[in-house]
Amino acid sequence: MLDKDQKNIWHPYTSLQGAADNILIDSAKGIYLYTPDGRKIIDAVSSWWVNIHGHSNEYIADAIAVQAKKLEQVIFAGFTHEPAIRLSERILNIVPGNHQKIFFSDNGSTAVEVALKMAIQYWHNLNVPRKKVIALQGAYHGDTFGAMSAGERGIFTKPFYAHLFETDFIPFPVKENFQEVLKTFETLASQNNVATFIYEPLVQGAAGMRIYSPEILDKLLSIARKYDVICIADEVMTGFGRTGRIFASEYMQEKPDIICLSKGISGGVLPLGATCCNAKIVNAYESSDPGKTFFHGHSFTANPIACAAANASLDLLEKKECMARIKMISMKHEHFAVELRKQKNVKKAGSLGTILSIEIESGADTGYLNKLRNTLYNAFLENGILMRPLGNIIYLIPPYVIEENELDYIYNSILKILKNLS
Ligand SMILES: Cc1ncc(COP(=O)(O)O)c(C=O)c1O
Repeated sequence: MLDKDQKNIWHPYTSLQGAADNILIDSAKGIYLYTPDGRKIIDAVSSWWVNIHGHSNEYIADAIAVQAKKLEQVIFAGFTHEPAIRLSERILNIVPGNHQKIFFSDNGSTAVEVALKMAIQYWHNLNVPRKKVIALQGAYHGDTFGAMSAGERGIFTKPFYAHLFETDFIPFPVKENFQEVLKTFETLASQNNVATFIYEPLVQGAAGMRIYSPEILDKLLSIARKYDVICIADEVMTGFGRTGRIFASEYMQEKPDIICLSKGISGGVLPLGATCCNAKIVNAYESSDPGKTFFHGHSFTANPIACAAANASLDLLEKKECMARIKMISMKHEHFAVELRKQKNVKKAGSLGTILSIEIESGADTGYLNKLRNTLYNAFLENGILMRPLGNIIYLIPPYVIEENELDYIYNSILKILKNLS
């Protein structure tokens, strides 16, 4: 079977030459992925940061089955359905910032495209010539053109540079540079030509799970507010409990005008994207002028089965047990990060909620293509753990159903593998 996989399928983020065979998975339960030949692998990255309640969750599966037999899909322009209506109300009730409307799409990249277009057209509708987009260095917002444009220029986007819109990148804020960063941001924002500021709140995922402080982000957001810059929080990864709160934006006083959601929204079971916005944005679109309509949509906008999965996932997320698990993981990560910082070859280690990130010493060789990456990937797999290092950075972002002893097993494997490296 794998020869046909190799022959026919173009896998994401995978070279067409020299890549190792893909691992065939035929079932999964909880945190475990199972191969047909009896291997059991811990999904320590929640299958690209999406899964929150464990694989093949019965409650979500039942909700999907019921919905699939009732209404599987219907055009979402001119028509609507109960799963989307219920989901919209529930999400708008919990997203921070008194948001008024939700626009559904298919994935994280489309949630970001919608957000960028919403913000840019906001100024168009007001007839104000604000066009600039500001983002943080190291940002990752997805792989479609708008999302790439607002993301760090690097190996992922190099072939497309000429086709990306211009974005002003401000340095990633840390303790040492934050006054400088605030100044740079204020200089840009005060020119009255900035349409929007987009950011991954408190942790940049693809940049290596880089964590930054809520105080600094709050200051950036208040500068944006002062100059009327639309703030877009890309909570595609951080949403639905990942950072210890339901949304990372809850850590700040200043709230975003637009919030992008995906990944954990459906429990990580079916593709779904959502972009929420506040009254300020909505008001700019409430017009009898057809030119002020948001002409955007996808065939599967608000797919009923995906919405049913999302409603079921929210039921589970709202349970006390789920929040207790998130707390347990967060505490254990915090303690383990302290231990990690004592290890010889650990350059940096930190955690935010259920996310733990470890930067391994590798001299001048850093970045996504660091040669440690494959060594680490294979070493973890040999220990029955799926980790997907970002260069010399390893990170843990497990489903919330993980047990304490399973976390301990991963922690011990990390220590063992780090020891073997030195
Ligand atoms: C912060 C953030 N935004 C957007 C995306 C893009 O999401 P998707 O892969 O679903 O298009 C990702 C994916 O990793 C992400 O981490």
